[in-house]
Amino acid sequence: MKKLLPLLAVCLLFFSCTQSPKEESNIISTPVPERTAGQTDVLELKTDPLPVVRVAFIGLGMRGPGAVSRMTHIPGVEIVALCDVEQKNTEKVNKMLEERGFPKAQEFYGDTTVWRKVTALPNVDLIYVATDWKSHATIGIQAMNDGKHVAIEVPAAMNMDEIWGLINTSEKTRKHCMQLENCVYDFFELTTLNMVQQGLLGDVIHGEGAYIHGLQPYWDEYWNDWRMDFNKNHRGDVYPTHGLGPVCQAMNIHRGDKLNYLVSVDTKAVGNPQFLKEKRGEEVKDFRNGDHTSTLIRTENGKSILIEHNITSPRPYNRMYQLTGTKGFANKYPVTGYALGAESLDPSLTANHENLTTHSFVPDDVKAALMEKYKHPIVKEIEETAKKVGGHGGMDFVMDYRLIYCLQKGLPLDMDVYDLAEWCSLIPLTEKSLDNNSAPVEIPDFTRGAWNKLKELKFAQ
Ligand SMILES: NC(=O)c1ccc[n+]([C@@H]2O[C@H](COP(=O)([O-])OP(=O)(O)OC[C@H]3O[C@@H](n4cnc5c(N)ncnc54)[C@H](O)[C@@H]3O)[C@@H](O)[C@H]2O)c1
Repeated sequence: MKKLLPLLAVCLLFFSCTQSPKEESNIISTPVPERTAGQTDVLELKTDPLPVVRVAFIGLGMRGPGAVSRMTHIPGVEIVALCDVEQKNTEKVNKMLEERGFPKAQEFYGDTTVWRKVTALPNVDLIYVATDWKSHATIGIQAMNDGKHVAIEVPAAMNMDEIWGLINTSEKTRKHCMQLENCVYDFFELTTLNMVQQGLLGDVIHGEGAYIHGLQPYWDEYWNDWRMDFNKNHRGDVYPTHGLGPVCQAMNIHRGDKLNYLVSVDTKAVGNPQFLKEKRGEEVKDFRNGDHTSTLIRTENGKSILIEHNITSPRPYNRMYQLTGTKGFANKYPVTGYALGAESLDPSLTANHENLTTHSFVPDDVKAALMEKYKHPIVKEIEETAKKVGGHGGMDFVMDYRLIYCLQKGLPLDMDVYDLAEWCSLIPLTEKSLDNNSAPVEIPDFTRGAWNKLKELKFAQ
């Protein structure tokens, strides 16, 4: 028996190695930095109410001026400072303020570091960032360290260091750090979220989202060619937040579920290098970003998400936004509609219809009735003004309105720094998967243990 013991030990060792769960053995792990002692999470962070919110804007290219304009329609907002590298951009926006009868804001321009004076201003509560991707996180971190709340355009962070930098600074300073993801406020998405929260679609087990938008008309408009540069140098889904944000909200990510891992597959790069060759005579041999990138994610609660990115093919604009539930289905692009199992149909809405099953979309009048019945309270409150003010049909205004509403009342914001982290993490993690032959890559728990503390997403009222 004594002779057999070493053999038994070797067998046990071999058995324990081969039996370790598959998920653990073949996933590329993603390190999580330790939280500094005394630092705690910022889930449902409440801050002192700000009846008047004093805002400074940094980045006034194609996107920024619209944000300033929208803010002029929100009572209790003071536009204090305007900043851009280019003087003509700050001047143009200040002129717009003057023409609308608002006091001129202080202007900052001249170089890429002048924003430091803006985050340091004593008379500012919120820094609103719409610069290019490279400077988002640096400005955001400094803004919070300078005692300001910060709202940053998408994507707010481009790599794991930037993501953890924003999380740690928000946790340390107890300042809000919100990503300006407008697509979660689209009327269809908000209403569908309400349907999900009221159980109409059952358990949402699969979601899809995308950013499919041919950017050819814009390439020459971006300041210093920053967007093409990023695509030249990075493989993967570099713009995932419009597609992923609304799906994560419907699945209560870090509010009872969490993203566990992803795998990504891309095509070769054809369209963008061809554009550069034809339009600029520029030959780029090793263009990194493929024409089409598809990413699959699995969640802790056994759900799946498909996210796609394509900014070059001749396809109609498409954010997909598709939710498959156990009792119903919602789809935004290319056809907007709902399909419901018979048990979910309200007889008062469907009295004149027969055979409405999950095999087809409900007829248009039933869809309209459903959308009216489940209209999100936020849409009810602000729809009319949002449609008048505009910004992608009104959703941009709803986003700004909600940001200011919550700051004025001292309520938690609709999107926290962990949403920002999860939605942006696809940028570095899809690149990692692609560079490793589509290997699964771990998506970390950015709350560092608190993903199950809240049980569902709630917009504070
Ligand atoms: N949510 C949406 O629907 C949506 C739509 C368009 C753009 N965006 C995002 O908005 C951001 C800006 O995009 P854009 O299309 O306006 O780009 P853009 O190139 O037109 O504008 C960027 C502006 O930032 C300024 N800038 C750059 N670095 C700066 C610095 N260090 N300090 C001060 N100013 C600086 C530039 O001078 C330029 O005017 C991007 O993050 C983009 O992804 C979001």
